[in-house]
Amino acid sequence: MNILVLNGPNLNMLGKRDPDQYGTATLEQIEDTLKSAFDDVDFTFTQSNHEGELVEVIHELVRSSDYDGLVANFGAYTHTSIALRDALSMVEVPKIEVHLSNIHAREKFRSKSMTGEVCDGIITGLGVDSYKLGVDAVISSVRA
Ligand code: DQA
Repeated sequence: MNILVLNGPNLNMLGKRDPDQYGTATLEQIEDTLKSAFDDVDFTFTQSNHEGELVEVIHELVRSSDYDGLVANFGAYTHTSIALRDALSMVEVPKIEVHLSNIHAREKFRSKSMTGEVCDGIITGLGVDSYKLGVDAVISSVRA
């Protein structure tokens, strides 16, 4: 099974960035956690700080049919990006949005997810476990 794990802006700064909200694990450590928790999954990990690049990665996923599922954390673009939402709408494989922090327990502008509305589900507030549960959800959906 091939799963694309896509991370958006500022998530490359995990480890340094606001540990009270996001914990102390770096993005690389989160990726390693997923690799060891799911040793039968082939992961592709991509991170970008640029909205257009994230859109293009999603287009590639749609075109290539190389992936069985998508786990995505679009960072702040979650709350603003119609472009990412439109790109995600084309994704036909299982797609789960994840957040380290609980977007419903923070500033009001974070509780709206433009992108999550077109995903199959959203897992938010469980730290690194949000990613693990996101992968679990994709696997169950592929096997259903
Ligand atoms: C985040 C939540 C977003 O509101 C924020 O902009 C992020 C990280 C999270 O994982 O908790 O960059 O997506």
